[in-house]
Amino acid sequence: MTCRFRCGDACFHEVPNTSANEYVGDVIADALSRRSVMRAAAVVTVVTAAGTAVNVAGAQGAEAATAASRHPRPSHSAVPRGLRFTSVEPNTADTVTIPGGYSQNVVIRWGEPILRGAPAFDPEHQTAAAQAGQFGYNNDFLALLPLHGNQKLLVANHEYTDEILMFRGYDAANPTREQVEIAWAAHGLSAVVVEGDRRTGKLTPVLRHPLNRRVTATTEFRITGPAAGSALLKTSVDPTGRKAYGTLNNCSGGTTPWGTTLHGEENFNQYFANASRDTDKRYGIGTGASERKWERFDKRFDVAQEPNEVHRFGYVVEFDPYDPSSTPRKHTALGRFKHEAATVRLTSDGRPVVYTGDDERFDYFYKFVSSKRMRHGDSRSVREHNLSLLDEGTLYVAKLTGDSPAIEIDGSGKLPADGEFDGSGTWIPLATATAKGAVSHVDGMTAEEVFVFTRLAGDKVGATKMDRPEDIEPNPTSGKVYVALTNNTNRGVGSNAKADEANPRNANKHGHILELTERRNRPESTEFAWLLFLVAGDPDDPATYFAGFPKDDVSPISCPDNVAFDPHGNLWISTDGAQLGSHDGLFGVATKGARRGDLKQFLTVPTGAETCGPVIGERQVLVAVQHPGEITGATVESPASTWPDGPGTYVRPAVVAVWRKDGCDIGS
Ligand code: FEO
Ligand code: CA
Ligand code: CA
Ligand code: CA
Repeated sequence: MTCRFRCGDACFHEVPNTSANEYVGDVIADALSRRSVMRAAAVVTVVTAAGTAVNVAGAQGAEAATAASRHPRPSHSAVPRGLRFTSVEPNTADTVTIPGGYSQNVVIRWGEPILRGAPAFDPEHQTAAAQAGQFGYNNDFLALLPLHGNQKLLVANHEYTDEILMFRGYDAANPTREQVEIAWAAHGLSAVVVEGDRRTGKLTPVLRHPLNRRVTATTEFRITGPAAGSALLKTSVDPTGRKAYGTLNNCSGGTTPWGTTLHGEENFNQYFANASRDTDKRYGIGTGASERKWERFDKRFDVAQEPNEVHRFGYVVEFDPYDPSSTPRKHTALGRFKHEAATVRLTSDGRPVVYTGDDERFDYFYKFVSSKRMRHGDSRSVREHNLSLLDEGTLYVAKLTGDSPAIEIDGSGKLPADGEFDGSGTWIPLATATAKGAVSHVDGMTAEEVFVFTRLAGDKVGATKMDRPEDIEPNPTSGKVYVALTNNTNRGVGSNAKADEANPRNANKHGHILELTERRNRPESTEFAWLLFLVAGDPDDPATYFAGFPKDDVSPISCPDNVAFDPHGNLWISTDGAQLGSHDGLFGVATKGARRGDLKQFLTVPTGAETCGPVIGERQVLVAVQHPGEITGATVESPASTWPDGPGTYVRPAVVAVWRKDGCDIGS
């Protein structure tokens, strides 16, 4: 059901990337390092938790042994600050399960009135007008921004709608206009002021606060950057190609150092019907009716009638939550694809660099390096300048090369002889936008085409096909960049690209996390080193890897999706679609020191839900519980979950805050 409503059944369709790009394993390293030759000689026996002795070929066993000696069993006090909690066991409880000694509250639910004049939630009498003033559906990315005193500004994405769990008696073949318009209003973004409790981490929404705001599928947007005004973006409603309406499928995002938020428009393809062009096919846009039948109620969703409307989705959106009158923007300079997220770091001279992944099997990840420097201050002219930072600069796509011989990457997840899935990489420039115009670096494509058909540009330059790049985020304490690659069960299946060193498992069910180090740790570098930090799954499975940490005590993890950092530089990972029998959850792991790789589960979410938007503060952890109850066959009448309010109520996506009962910092 998640596949149907969230991604338009993306995984049941053909892989949209049919380009012939080489994969990492095609490139054979010049020579093995001395270290790898030494390790290749070793064969050890590993006893699994089930008591079975298995022979693990050379390198992997040697790696485990070496890792064990690198990580002598640490005492409890060696657990780094931020991660000192008792791991939550995998479970299938229809609730948010948190560690002992912690408390939680539901901060805000789908349908709570946030704007002035909005009515209280009444699921049996929903209207589009009411929903437009209420908290939207399926909260995903969260940002918690400073305001004043104990108040903060919470910004949330509303990725998509589960009509079958929203409307009693929903008929998917014949949605009503009111239901469709409610869905439009339930998509988009919310900004809500929240009040913090002085003694705990509890957060309470300030309903109807003047800064509260909704952005929906019909809100006016400004299209900015090099493709704004392009003929490719002009429609009958907008002959300028500069004014779009609405944002769709906002998945994850990021906060900027200049006080705005970024939001990735992800599976936008599923809302459009009747497409036929090759460019549409590369984006997975359907040739028939759409799942939600919106094209019956607004012709802009019918590609046959309004061919360019679909070119106005698939961007990174920038939102200024401090200015309720601001017009949000779609940034064409960051390219058009299924943006999962967009996260920012600054160069030493103050230029933003944005990392962003394209969540599709065998698609790519990208970065944008601005040519403009951020200014400090809060005047209108400074804010206006900073809102233009993502309009000029260069968009790059990643190409990765493994350093082990291709023959050592057998698709099972077995480590190569050098003991690491690792290598080097290049950021290949695609196009550069300047104040005077844009220049393409891709043969046969204009700059406008690169920015609007970015996937095709990546195909042409031979970018590396990855296992669904989800969230990508730099660690603010080290500068290393972490890329969540959630899964790809098509890897190595049929004619699809087979395992390579950066995506080392065929039929990859559980995903992995890549750690990228820019050359000289400069965000603007065009070269980088990479290694796989985590190869996810059941730690008893020899095809898993936890940064070399002994696996006897780490938490199982599957399908990493969002990543975030706590104030100490620990990596936090939330999952979507975990394949190990437990509900999805949130995990913390050290990225440095003796405990690097010691993964610990912090919470699990209710039945059918995905864990989203983690914000890890000193005093509280915030998570968005997305699509609770989304189990095939579930309906309003026959729910699979009644979280958060219990039997007899509608299941509702909601934001949850977790804090320590004794008032101390998280994980201290
Ligand atoms: Fe909306 Fe890629 O998760
Ligand atoms: Ca290697
Ligand atoms: Ca996601
Ligand atoms: Ca993130």
